[in-house]
Amino acid sequence: MNINNVVILGAGLMGVGLAQVFARDEDMRVTVRSRKVHDEPYAPIIANLNLLIDNDALSEAEKEGVLSRISFTDDMPAAVANADLIIECVPEVMEIKQNTFADLEPLTRDDCIYATNTSVMSVTDIAKKCVKKDRVAGTHFWNPPFLIPLVEVVRTDDTSDEVVDSLMEVLNKVGKKPVLCRKDVPGFIANRLQHALWREAFSMVEKGIADPATVDRALAYGPGLRWPHLGPMENADMTGLDLSLNIHSYIFPYLEDTHEPSALLRELVAHGDLGFKTGKGYQTWTPEQIERSNRSLREYLIRVAGNIK
Ligand SMILES: NC(=O)c1ccc[n+]([C@@H]2O[C@H](COP(=O)([O-])OP(=O)(O)OC[C@H]3O[C@@H](n4cnc5c(N)ncnc54)[C@H](O)[C@@H]3O)[C@@H](O)[C@H]2O)c1
Repeated sequence: MNINNVVILGAGLMGVGLAQVFARDEDMRVTVRSRKVHDEPYAPIIANLNLLIDNDALSEAEKEGVLSRISFTDDMPAAVANADLIIECVPEVMEIKQNTFADLEPLTRDDCIYATNTSVMSVTDIAKKCVKKDRVAGTHFWNPPFLIPLVEVVRTDDTSDEVVDSLMEVLNKVGKKPVLCRKDVPGFIANRLQHALWREAFSMVEKGIADPATVDRALAYGPGLRWPHLGPMENADMTGLDLSLNIHSYIFPYLEDTHEPSALLRELVAHGDLGFKTGKGYQTWTPEQIERSNRSLREYLIRVAGNIK
């Protein structure tokens, strides 16, 4: 199915970011529907586009093109009547997401695809109150969505092949790197990988094996450096599965395998040490360091994201 008319529900951080992603493509018309249209709805998108211009990744003409393809409205029936694809970016609350989709069904075309940007929730449960469950899938974008290429397309047992194919196609068309998660499992693919690593990182800090900055440094100058080009599956084949088997047989008993969040993490949160939000988490942070960290991450992503194979 050709997707040209995209509706985003929710004008928060992810909603406006997704609007910007789709509006990069000249064939798209993007409508952002929110309960109330704020005074300057384009402001966050303009800030993102200006960052790209400042880093020579976008022209002024392209910026104007993107902005011209996005509109904002509070009128749900008018917004969704002719939508090809609707992506919900409303709060991460199961009932809100379920009702959002169920309420849409009398308002949309039969072939309209419903996608949820949930970070962690079951797509199957989100589709539970829908009559046509085969049109529902997950599209898990990563923040900031205009800079991170990955989108996890999550299918449920009910999602049709046509819906999956259309989503993969449109995401490729707008310049994303979609991956298909064939089962609706918690964490999908990338968060399962990410939090398996974080569990070990938090555990090593708690056990005093290394301090927080050292853990990050070990990753940044070692395995993290090659991951965009050499993931674990290709790496295992490259070095030999017999070696993987020997290493896993030896090391697995020593790796963190708790099913509970780290005790030190609980302690810090209970103490009100939340990280950048409070200036102290695992480490202490000045406002200048926080500003620098946020800015340099974005500039780094602009430089590398286009070069990942
Ligand atoms: N923030 C992230 O890093 C990130 C990353 C990936 C996925 N997500 C997911 O994307 C979704 C949106 O997250 P966000 O960070 O943009 O949130 P947000 O709080 O910035 O935006 C939520 C939007 O929903 C609107 N809203 C609030 N209550 C509502 C209701 N009852 N009905 C309809 N709309 C309502 C708000 O006005 C706002 O426009 C969530 O499911 C979140 O888990 C977030």
